Amino acid sequence: MPAKAKTDLIAGVRPERLEALAAREARRFAASRPKTRAALAKGADVWLGGVPMHWMKDWPMPFPMLVTKAKGARITDLDGYEIDDFCLGDTGSMFGHSPKPVAKAIARQASRGLTYMLPTKDALVAGRLLSDRFGAFRWQIATTATDANRNALRVARAVTGRPKVLVFNGCYHGTLDDTMVELSDGKTSARSGLVGQVADLTQTAHVVEFNDLTAVEAALKTGEIAAILTEPVMTNSCMVLPEAGFHDGLRTLSRRYGALLIIDETHTISSGLGGYARVHSLSPDMFVVGKCVAGGMPTAVWGMTDAVAQRFAAYDAQRPAGHSGMGTTLSGNPMQFACLRATLSKVMTPGNYAHMEAGAARLSDGLRAAIDRHKAPWHVVRVGARVEFICAPGPLKNGTQAMAAHAPQVEAALHTALLNRGCLIAPFHNMMLVSPATKTRQIDRLIAAFDEILTQLFA
Ligand SMILES: Cc1ncc(COP(=O)(O)O)c(C=O)c1O
Repeated sequence: MPAKAKTDLIAGVRPERLEALAAREARRFAASRPKTRAALAKGADVWLGGVPMHWMKDWPMPFPMLVTKAKGARITDLDGYEIDDFCLGDTGSMFGHSPKPVAKAIARQASRGLTYMLPTKDALVAGRLLSDRFGAFRWQIATTATDANRNALRVARAVTGRPKVLVFNGCYHGTLDDTMVELSDGKTSARSGLVGQVADLTQTAHVVEFNDLTAVEAALKTGEIAAILTEPVMTNSCMVLPEAGFHDGLRTLSRRYGALLIIDETHTISSGLGGYARVHSLSPDMFVVGKCVAGGMPTAVWGMTDAVAQRFAAYDAQRPAGHSGMGTTLSGNPMQFACLRATLSKVMTPGNYAHMEAGAARLSDGLRAAIDRHKAPWHVVRVGARVEFICAPGPLKNGTQAMAAHAPQVEAALHTALLNRGCLIAPFHNMMLVSPATKTRQIDRLIAAFDEILTQLFA
């Protein structure tokens, strides 16, 4: 029999092995969850597509898990399985589920009112803590990072008088329309999967590849770019690290051409205390962070330097009266302030970050060793507490390469197989987070499960 052609392989895996693993693991998941199946049969149909939130369709299992409890780095489902949680709400619970200081703050505030549209003393303390942690910005609060980015963009357009945001191919900054663009034949176009998109996004956005300063400069030269909006590391495709000099280049070029630089730290807050910008001494004009910033209470913050704040104050003063297009009713509620204060002062600590960093280093080393042992053509990337294995050789340079590295079939089978071995990782890419509550034995279990699955795929 002739040897299998290399091109038949999917991310280095023989297709029949992959299919066998996927089928075996899907059966195992379904067979082990009779209570979940029964409960879903009674109640899931009222939700559109069977799940209460669109993204929940992205889990690879044959049906969703129903969670009964989550604490620290463990999550329990209706069938009584206690699972090591490395997904951690896709970063919302990066500091562990219900960190004690946050749970206490919630309990304390719960009897004092949930929303008033007025600030509290906690807001004043939280504001100072934000500046201590992330830098001297003038802050505003929102409920989601999507909204924080939307507001930041409004301000950038207001003060520059320019229409477009410059983003990187493969980026994700939430569901704001402005950033839902991609490179198609070298041109900016709306992402093909968008639902109900009617506005012409090419009028308000321009997209270039990450790590391509020549393309950034060409875009800035048009004089149309109000702001560059970027994550310091691309975390929403297969992870792409910035090349040496890329961030310095963005800073220099944005200043030279009068555009603002907005850094979105919603995921890279995993980098260390103060986020990637602080750890790597970046100096953005505007700063956004959401998800875990208030320990899992829906909260995001966005800030601007004094210089931008002054420009915005001048703009705001001459703006006609009426709706600004910024803010939402429940943003700035006292629960958010209480949880922000608790998280910034008692959870986002050097000690906790040191634990996360050490655990994530152990995890990435272990995964890398397994990949090497099985000679899989894969690689591992880590940004502080955030670890990702990528089912393709690396390093990746940009969003196009990241898209090509994505192996959805392999990833789906692997994720279900990991879950059947008690380890939950994010349904997007192959993302894993190490929290302050994550134990070494949990990390070692994940590495062992990964190794065993790779044996089935590659041996
Ligand atoms: C970098 C980044 N910014 C913003 C967002 C949007 O966050 P949210 O869904 O909480 O609005 C995300 C979500 O994944 C993100 O990864």
